Amino acid sequence: MTQTAPAQHSSADALLHDNFALGGKVALVTGASAGIGAHLAETLALAGAEVVLTARRRDKLEGVRAAIEARGGTAHVAEMDVTDSAAVAAVFDALGERHGRLDILLNNSGVAVTARAAAMAEADWDRVLDTNLKGAFLVSRAAVPLLRAGQGTIVNIASILGLGVLKGVAAYAASKAGLIQLTKAMALELARDDIRVNAIAPGYIATDINGAFFATEAGKRVIAAIPLRRLGETRDLEGALLLLAGPAGRFMTGTTLVVDGGHRLAMG
Ligand SMILES: NC(=O)c1ccc[n+]([C@@H]2O[C@H](COP(=O)([O-])OP(=O)(O)OC[C@H]3O[C@@H](n4cnc5c(N)ncnc54)[C@H](OP(=O)(O)O)[C@@H]3O)[C@@H](O)[C@H]2O)c1
Repeated sequence: MTQTAPAQHSSADALLHDNFALGGKVALVTGASAGIGAHLAETLALAGAEVVLTARRRDKLEGVRAAIEARGGTAHVAEMDVTDSAAVAAVFDALGERHGRLDILLNNSGVAVTARAAAMAEADWDRVLDTNLKGAFLVSRAAVPLLRAGQGTIVNIASILGLGVLKGVAAYAASKAGLIQLTKAMALELARDDIRVNAIAPGYIATDINGAFFATEAGKRVIAAIPLRRLGETRDLEGALLLLAGPAGRFMTGTTLVVDGGHRLAMG
């Protein structure tokens, strides 16, 4: 039976709590070692979830865990390459033994390659598609039995490049468009299991991956094309995540929330 909210909230605090608190929830975040994933893992932890931080670089994950614990949150670290189905299975086996269920899966791992399709190396195409699309499939598939044990939810980090295109991002755009379709397909297939599946399509968010580019003249032109005239910050994604991952999103599935300062509108 789908989660329902109380018909009335006893106070303003209760309104926020009933919609956004994640106390007692277990969350797993992929790509939690840096950038958006590290920030959103901390967001989930501050909202009360116990968070499993996964990525390939254990030292970075340990740093994120320390930052979360310093702020009173609870986090665990597990090395996981999302392109390696055996590694994925091992992490979910361990999660099943420890918690017996999963409430929130945040598929955030991603890589980008800048090259036009006609000049793209096959290995680059494979790396982008394997990480951004196949990785999300492998992790989601492994998570479903544990998500079924609760009223689980999946949030996929897509991109506005999954909705519109620019030159030089063919593999990335194809992977994110595929991820948005995977979101819809899994939402349809898993609704009767009370598992909701949604996506966030961020515009350009300032992270280590793109800081150098946005300091260039070309980067400044991209910023000037964003209607709100700035890059996003990782904290700009907190609201969409809490909406989709928490009780407030209880009637949302198969949707993609665009968080981009209006950039998609200006892409044509
Ligand atoms: N920044 C933006 O402007 C922007 C805009 C729209 C969407 N996004 C999406 O947001 C997500 C995060 O991007 P970001 O900007 O935070 O990038 P980032 O700082 O480079 O972080 C990427 C994360 O993905 C992980 N990762 C890469 N390959 C992996 C693999 N094979 N297995 C497991 N983890 C892997 C990395 O961890 P390890 O290297 O430790 O494995 C890292 O934690 C991506 O899906 C990206 O496409 C970003």
